[in-house]
Amino acid sequence: MKLRKYSKAELKELSNIHYTSFSDGILTLLGPKYLEVFYNFLDQSELEDILIFNKKKVIVGYCVISYDTKTILNRAIAATFLDFSKAFFLRLFNIKLQKIVFSTLFKVNSSIHESPEIAYIAISEEFTGKGYGEEMLNEVCAFLKKNAYKNIYVKTMDSIENRAVNFYKKNKFFLLKKTTVSGKNYVYLKKNL
Ligand SMILES: CC(C)(COP(=O)(O)OP(=O)(O)OC[C@H]1O[C@@H](n2cnc3c(N)ncnc32)[C@H](O)[C@@H]1OP(=O)(O)O)[C@@H](O)C(=O)NCCC(=O)NCCS
Repeated sequence: MKLRKYSKAELKELSNIHYTSFSDGILTLLGPKYLEVFYNFLDQSELEDILIFNKKKVIVGYCVISYDTKTILNRAIAATFLDFSKAFFLRLFNIKLQKIVFSTLFKVNSSIHESPEIAYIAISEEFTGKGYGEEMLNEVCAFLKKNAYKNIYVKTMDSIENRAVNFYKKNKFFLLKKTTVSGKNYVYLKKNL
């Protein structure tokens, strides 16, 4: 299996994988329609790369690499303001969403970001736990190394339930910093390529 560039027609499928993989992130809370708009924004962005990983014609997973993660959500909201407002106002009474949107827009955000960073990585639910994530991560690292990058970074939730922490540690990522965003604990990890 190899990483490849996606086609525009596959953006909807990537947003569906995102929706089922990241249950309480801002984009999932904004709903599947907005997620699709967001992936169309990523398609246009020069500061992000979307890499997909497939088995025959089926998409197994994908990774979004950002070269400016700190601004990704602000850029997305600015570029898709009407769709964002519509999605947000339809869910105006969702307290969790209110908090995340507030901290994103007003930068009440103590997070650190280095580049390039894994903004989103997910394996489609039916393929998780079979070694595909590890295979895809190796390909993503090889892609960045080929493009002369020396390191890769990722921020992930610091909780026992988050299997991604194990996943990264097993793949030679090490702890750079612990950080708190909107009251939630995160670990910031780095890998030398
Ligand atoms: C995290 C994710 C990308 C890993 O992909 P995957 O294909 O399921 O992982 P792999 O099968 O390649 O497993 C690689 C390693 O991850 C860890 N891992 C996988 N499943 C695990 C589980 N259920 N519990 C704990 N660790 C687990 C293990 O260290 C595993 O190594 P092992 O097989 O020797 O035990 C995938 O599970 C996913 O999409 N999760 C939802 C989205 C997400 O959390 N993304 C990361 C946010 S930063």
